[in-house]
This record gives sequence, C-alpha cells and structure tokens, in this order.
Amino acid sequence: MRFHATTISRVSQLKNRAPVLFQSSQLRSNHQKRCNFGIAFDIDGVILRGRVPTGGSPQALRRLYGDSGELKVPYLFLTNGGGVPETKRAKELSELLGVNILPSQVVQGHSPFRNLLKKFENELIIATGKGNPALVMSEYGFKKVLSLEEYASYFESIDPVSQYKRWTTAPVSDRKTPAVPRYDVFSERIKAAFVVSDPVDWGRDIQVLCDILRSGGLPGDANRNQPPLYFAADDLEYQAAFPSERLGLGAFRIALESIFNIINPKGLEYVSYGKPNPFVFKNAEAILSQLQSSSCIDHSENNGVSGSHPFETLYMIGDNPSVDVKGARQVFSEEKIIMQNFQQTWLLTLLRRQ
Ligand code: G3P
Ligand code: MG
Repeated sequence: MRFHATTISRVSQLKNRAPVLFQSSQLRSNHQKRCNFGIAFDIDGVILRGRVPTGGSPQALRRLYGDSGELKVPYLFLTNGGGVPETKRAKELSELLGVNILPSQVVQGHSPFRNLLKKFENELIIATGKGNPALVMSEYGFKKVLSLEEYASYFESIDPVSQYKRWTTAPVSDRKTPAVPRYDVFSERIKAAFVVSDPVDWGRDIQVLCDILRSGGLPGDANRNQPPLYFAADDLEYQAAFPSERLGLGAFRIALESIFNIINPKGLEYVSYGKPNPFVFKNAEAILSQLQSSSCIDHSENNGVSGSHPFETLYMIGDNPSVDVKGARQVFSEEKIIMQNFQQTWLLTLLRRQ
C-alpha cells in the first residue's frame, strides 16, 4: 500500500479561483468497480482558510459522492485544529462545504484524547483552548472536567493582571461559572491537564498551568511531581485567514516549556498528539478502511457485496511539510513522498489520475 503525502502551495486568497471541471465518466465507472484509494485532507490551508473554503474545495469534494449522495471515495479530514466536538465540527463542515460529512470523517488534534479515558475517566482534569474544551472532553466521557477558565475563576488573584484585561473570552451572558465550585478545587488535586486547542489567553494559561504543574495539581501548594500534560497538536505555525502564518499550539508549548524549565527544577514533561504523531496516520487508515467497507462496492471481486480490501494508495493532502508530510513519511517511510504544486486544482488533478 502506498501512502502519498502531497502539499499544495499556500496561495493568497486573492488568487483563489474555481478549479477547472472535467468529465469523469471513466472515473465513476472505475470507482464502482474498484475503490482502491482513500484520501486524508488537512483542513486549514487546504480545505479552508479561516472559515472560508479555498477555491474549488466544495466542488472538488462533491466529486467524491455519487449522484444520490452516497460516498464513492473514502475520505476523511485529518486536522490538528479543534476545540469543538467532532459531531459539531462535522455539522459545521457540512454546511460550509455543501456535502454530508459524518462525525467519523472528522479526526481533530484532540480526537486521540479519547484513548486516555480509562486512565482519567473519574479524575479531576482541566482543559484549555479556544472553543469549548471542557465540552469536548465531557463528550469523550471524562466525568470530572473543568475548563481552565472556570478553574482559574475560583482562585482569587491567581491572574494578577486580570483586572487590566478589557476583553473577555466569552460574552458575560454566556458565562456559566457557578459561584460555588462543582468540585473541591482547594483540596482535590488536578490529575492531568489537556491543551485541547489554541489557547486564547496565553498569559493566564501559562501562569495557571505553571501553578498546577509545579504544585502537583494544587495551585499555591509546595512543589511536587508534575501531573501529566497533553497537547492536541504541536504546530509551530498554521495558515489561517491572515496573509502570513499564525502562531499555533507548538508556539504556545515552547513558551510554556521555556518558562516552566526556568522556574521549576525539573523540565516539563508532556505528550503531543495530532499530526505528525504516527498513531494519527495509522488511525486514519483504519477509519478509511471502515468507510471503504461501508461505502464502496466492488462488483468484480466481492460479487457486489460491500467489503473492504487493502488500499493500493492513500493520499495525505496537506500544506505543512513538517506536520502533514513528515507524519506520513514516518509511518510509510519506504515510499516516495510526492511534493507537488497543485495550485487550486489539486484534487481534480489527483482524481484525474485514478
Ligand atoms: O489550529 C489549527 C492548526 O493548528 C492546523 O490545522 O487543519 O492545518 O491541521 P490543520
Ligand atoms: Mg494545514
């Protein structure tokens, strides 16, 4: 099986243009016969920039479905972004891109956190990042999760500059912080910290995470062993709507680590998920196989019965060589990595070759 990682160029939004459409009758009959490839799409910089679809991506994705909306080509989104549950992200993407995307087709940076459920299901944990990180963790099954924002609100003066912040991370009307903590945060230690998505208030988060991590999970307490710390991704930069790249989770991790390593005798210990973690790519292949067996009918080899057979090729289409390409290369090192400039017609060009 070949796993190709393909980058597309980062083009200015002003240059975005609709892709050239082409007749695909041969493509359709090939897929009905044999569905021997799958595709993993990066989102930021490939499918979307910010919340805006890149030129032609909705039209291109529609080519992966049959006339009655059935999936012809197994594909999924493999993004280091996140902050909302996969069910919600699938709904948002469906609306933005005009195709019916299943939650199982959305693999976000924090999706692997599900695998830590056994370890922390009933333990007090905190989650931080844009969106709704505590909801993400609750939907995975974690029973005692607080957002870092809520947690910090119970500790008076933990953020000594909070009164100078004229902005808020949520409208006051949306804040549901209970006056009395839901858990005994003043005696119960935090057992793990999760950075679910790009942090919004770096200063507060670095301060509070240092407090939690140095004290063994109880801010203000004496130094103790560091509780586990997990990051959903480690992207230094990513392509958002701004013309040049923006600092990502990896930049936040570097800032936290640099400070922690100066103020704490022992260096920061952490695990980063998301691409290029090899687990993510193996998991993507497993999901694509499931999609293949439920969506593709191979008349020639299975007597018309749905069933999966090994992919001949898997494509990873990303815009970040150190994340998207590096990850695919680690897992499928024997294969050649293709780096090509597909401009805005990348997917159509790819499909034409099948
Ligand atoms: O915050 C999103 C960013 O880290 C990268 O997202 O879709 O390019 O993997 P993506
Ligand atoms: Mg990207």
